[in-house]
Amino acid sequence: MTAGRALFISLEGIDGSGKSTQARRLAEHMRARGRDPVLTREPGGAPGAEEIRRLLVEGDPARWSPETEILLFTAARRDHLERTIRPALAAGRDVVTDRFADSTRVYQGATRGDLRGLVDEIHAAAIGVEPDLTLILDMDPEVALERGLARASGEDRFEEFGLPFQEKLRAGFLALARGAPERCVVIDASEDPDTVARHVCEAVNARL
Ligand code: TYD
Repeated sequence: MTAGRALFISLEGIDGSGKSTQARRLAEHMRARGRDPVLTREPGGAPGAEEIRRLLVEGDPARWSPETEILLFTAARRDHLERTIRPALAAGRDVVTDRFADSTRVYQGATRGDLRGLVDEIHAAAIGVEPDLTLILDMDPEVALERGLARASGEDRFEEFGLPFQEKLRAGFLALARGAPERCVVIDASEDPDTVARHVCEAVNARL
């Protein structure tokens, strides 16, 4: 990895798939190779967006309608884009984000009513950009769910929808990957963390 255009990379996957660990490891790998990535996450990644995050991930699973949720996630994403992602890319820094718009497509668009059309319209109007590379960490939801709840972070609103929900999410991410093969790479996240990290780094190295 040497100097080149700054890369915008997202990691996606179901709850407990190990995205956050892998995002951190990827950023470390890139730093070790002389790049200067910004490691960030959604919902959140900027002060205002982190405030919106609390509204989204805590509390009763039925707290928001799916439509309201789309608007809140998109509001947080817009703030994240304006305050963190665009300034970093403009300064020539790579961005590694733990989740981006694919999460809204899958979580809000495909699993709680047929709202994908609305998700796409709002994305086009308010966000309008895609990552250069999206790494989809794929694994069995049963194993991932155990990992997710084991964390007991107080942010379990989505995990609490249960296993059938996570299975739909997994299918949704895999369908997205099939629809955007030039952008998405599916990584088997059931392997040990070192192996997953190696596959993540290989996918990124191929784009640099
Ligand atoms: P995250 O912090 O990535 O949780 P985890 O580390 O457990 O995967 O995301 C919080 C929750 O928000 C997660 O359950 C996924 C959900 N989410 C959506 O439903 N839509 C979105 O657009 C995003 C970004 C996240």
